[in-house]
Amino acid sequence: MKTNIVEISPKQLASGQAEEQLQLVADYLCSGQIVAFPTETVYGLGANALDEQAVQGIFAAKGRPSDNPLIVHISDVKDIDKVADLSKFTPIISKRLQLLADKFWPGPLTCIIPASKQLAENVTAGLDTVGVRIPDHPVALAILQTVNLPVAAPSANTSGKPSPTSAEHVYHDLNGRIPLIVDGGETGLGVESTVIDLTSMIPTVLRPGGISIEQLNDVLGQVIIDPAIAYASIGQLQPKSPGMKYTHYAPEGELLVFFRDSIHRVLETINDLPLDKRLGLICSNDSYHIFFEQANIEWSYLQLHQARAEEIARQLYKWLREVDKLGIELIFIEAIAADGVGYAVMNRMIKAAGGKVI
Ligand code: TXA
Ligand code: MG
Repeated sequence: MKTNIVEISPKQLASGQAEEQLQLVADYLCSGQIVAFPTETVYGLGANALDEQAVQGIFAAKGRPSDNPLIVHISDVKDIDKVADLSKFTPIISKRLQLLADKFWPGPLTCIIPASKQLAENVTAGLDTVGVRIPDHPVALAILQTVNLPVAAPSANTSGKPSPTSAEHVYHDLNGRIPLIVDGGETGLGVESTVIDLTSMIPTVLRPGGISIEQLNDVLGQVIIDPAIAYASIGQLQPKSPGMKYTHYAPEGELLVFFRDSIHRVLETINDLPLDKRLGLICSNDSYHIFFEQANIEWSYLQLHQARAEEIARQLYKWLREVDKLGIELIFIEAIAADGVGYAVMNRMIKAAGGKVI
């Protein structure tokens, strides 16, 4: 299959010069084809959420396990009845959704609510709940408004790989497997949306992401974090969100996470390596100066602790793809403070490392 690329920049949109491109994207989606498009978090791979065959195309293109449900995207909260079964909403669920939607939509928050029967069954992987969000990206919103359909879209990467933050990343993973990529430039946030289950007794964060735990606590009063995603227990407990149990975001090379106070173990590990081992390093200047100047590091990012967590979130997946391109065999990455979006960054880091923390 030939993969076409169409450019729709926020600038073109703003000046009304994207009508033709938007119509093209709508034609693809309305005829049951899948299309990759930018959101404010990462690129998504979209299909009509009411069309089972179209949705099947997403699972096939990504190589995604069929028990992993997809997030459904809408452009306006008034379309919620197209994706959710309002008759199953308790007053508490309605209240929670209203509070969160008012505060964080459009934005990087996915709410798990009772699913409408109208949705294709494979969207929810047979669950009776669905994850819904309104993305905060002009191109994504314009596409959703033009197609006027709920669009199911997971991240547009090959399953298990780092999520794509540019059209080039999507092309790298899915060239020949999907018919159309909308190039809207680099995404803003760089990590995916926070997933929160509103149907549980206490609202439960199933995946940390662009909206922080602190922000959710402020609005809802109390949220809990699925214990399985707390980074000390990654890989040890069964997560509530089906997608969180799979290895994810992983580069081809081996990734090891280290904390500053265990840095002597990093050195021991390095000392035991053959001299020609190709090493990558993502750490603070301080750690580098103390320990690594001697080692033969081929690729590095050394400003880790000077950069804000937002900046690290924006770049993390790009770094993991860069080291792959260079054929780096072993990458050491230093932990950062797990507050704000730093919590999501740490979750992704440790998952990408398959839980390997030294
Ligand atoms: O930022 C994002 O959320 C991006 C953009 C494209 O919107 N999408 C994204 O989708 O990250 P995906 O499929 O890569 O991740 C969706 C996560 C998975 O962990 C999935 O298991 C979980 O949400 N999920 C979806 N529906 C669910 C449900 N009904 N119950 C529990 N978890 C659910
Ligand atoms: Mg994903």
